[in-house]
Amino acid sequence: MSNHFALQRPFHTAIIMDGNGRWAIARGLPRTAGHCAGVETVRRVVEAAPDLGIGILTLFAFSSDNWRRPRTEVDWLMALLAEYMERETPRCIEQGVRMQVVGRRDRLDGPLTAAIARCEAATAAGTRLLLRIAVDYSGRDAILAAARNLFEPSREALDRALGPPVDLLIRTGGERRLSDFLLWECAYAEIIFSRRMWPEFGAGDLAGAVREFQGRQRRFGGIPAPPAPAQRGEAWLD
Ligand code: IPE
Ligand code: IPE
Ligand code: MG
Repeated sequence: MSNHFALQRPFHTAIIMDGNGRWAIARGLPRTAGHCAGVETVRRVVEAAPDLGIGILTLFAFSSDNWRRPRTEVDWLMALLAEYMERETPRCIEQGVRMQVVGRRDRLDGPLTAAIARCEAATAAGTRLLLRIAVDYSGRDAILAAARNLFEPSREALDRALGPPVDLLIRTGGERRLSDFLLWECAYAEIIFSRRMWPEFGAGDLAGAVREFQGRQRRFGGIPAPPAPAQRGEAWLD
């Protein structure tokens, strides 16, 4: 393995869960069926993540630009989110998962906001995985809001005000763009684009992405560390 920089374990993985709509349309189903199938993928991925060394998992569930979608699809997504929060709470507690929602809350409806608050409070003691769900999230808005609250903006202050840096960013669905996700936090993220649509992404795909990530050399602007000196026994054989 050529990673000269010691891997932080546990590390932060962020996922742009894309392709629900296309997956459904390809099967003659309504786009909403793709979102339902996508929830199953979330369960699989959350369950698999800790054993792969993932300590923080941030999932992009709804972007601030997704309000542009038809009202019926938006309502469906919001209802799915509320149901997910309610139904997943016991499983999260059981699995040591702490759930947090990132993004704006002021545009979410009352029942969803309440479900989020209940789930966050009930899972607050979880230490095995920090699961962050990005809802009504915009990377640009997050940077702007953080900067506005700082008396003296600096790189370190913004690092602290925003979320943890992303080590591995995965986007499913075949598109190769960030779509306003974690722009600051992804400064040195390793990026993996998967052609799989989100509903068909499995634990094996996540494990494959983590393997590829672990094989990459992260330099953070530096140069590769010199190879480790040869073992004494090898260097002075005769
Ligand atoms: C991702 O799937 C889910 C959300 C953005 C809420 P999409 O709904 O974007 O699916 P595609 O990209 O249209 O296939
Ligand atoms: C990004 O996907 C947002 C989420 C996955 C929640 P989109 O499907 O909204 O992104 P674009 O429109 O293809 O860039
Ligand atoms: Mg999409």
